Amino acid sequence: MADKKFARESLTTMTEITFPNHTNGLNNLMGGWLMYWMDIVSAIAAQRHSESIVVTASVDNISFAEPISLGDVVTLKAQVTRAFNTSMEIHIEAWAENVLNKRKMATNKAFFTFVALDREGKPTRVPEIEPETDEEKALYHSALRRRQLRLILAGRMKPDDANELKAIFDMD
Ligand SMILES: CC(C)(COP(=O)(O)OP(=O)(O)OC[C@H]1O[C@@H](n2cnc3c(N)ncnc32)[C@H](O)[C@@H]1OP(=O)(O)O)[C@@H](O)C(=O)NCCC(=O)NCCS
Repeated sequence: MADKKFARESLTTMTEITFPNHTNGLNNLMGGWLMYWMDIVSAIAAQRHSESIVVTASVDNISFAEPISLGDVVTLKAQVTRAFNTSMEIHIEAWAENVLNKRKMATNKAFFTFVALDREGKPTRVPEIEPETDEEKALYHSALRRRQLRLILAGRMKPDDANELKAIFDMD
């Protein structure tokens, strides 16, 4: 396996349609269905990057900016932002499209973290990420802060050790 891979090599897209069994009492897509689709599309992106079996370790910052209506086509896009040792952060974006009136809107974003496992089910190293575009570079650099915050909240990192995260609040 390569030591480094381009972020774009993990790009994964998925298209679904909102059927009645996906909706809540308001005839909008139920959040749980969207999270299910996000989990699948991001797992595939993580598998493409790591060329391994992966498991979801953390789910962060899922936003629901707009409701998605019954009948809307939902497109999800996932790509690895940065890989650490055995874990990878994936950025997911979703859009809803009414194909009848050609209305398309950005609806959701999230960051998922996956861990690659070896044949014995133990965490295993993954290739680094080489970002290319301005957006990929921005996501790559901010990924370190998001990782520090989630590891602090998970009780896996001491706040004192989170230098990049602390730098945001440094008022000097
Ligand atoms: C995720 C899991 C493999 C981590 O195992 P572990 O014994 O804690 O392993 P480690 O301490 O070596 O950590 C492995 C990686 O997981 C990351 N990790 C663990 N918990 C995390 C969390 N809450 N948030 C983000 N990353 C986390 C660590 O930072 C480490 O990443 P790194 O190697 O890039 O630094 C383990 O907790 C697990 O199997 N969880 C259940 C996963 C699952 O069932 N998901 C749903 C179905 S797919």
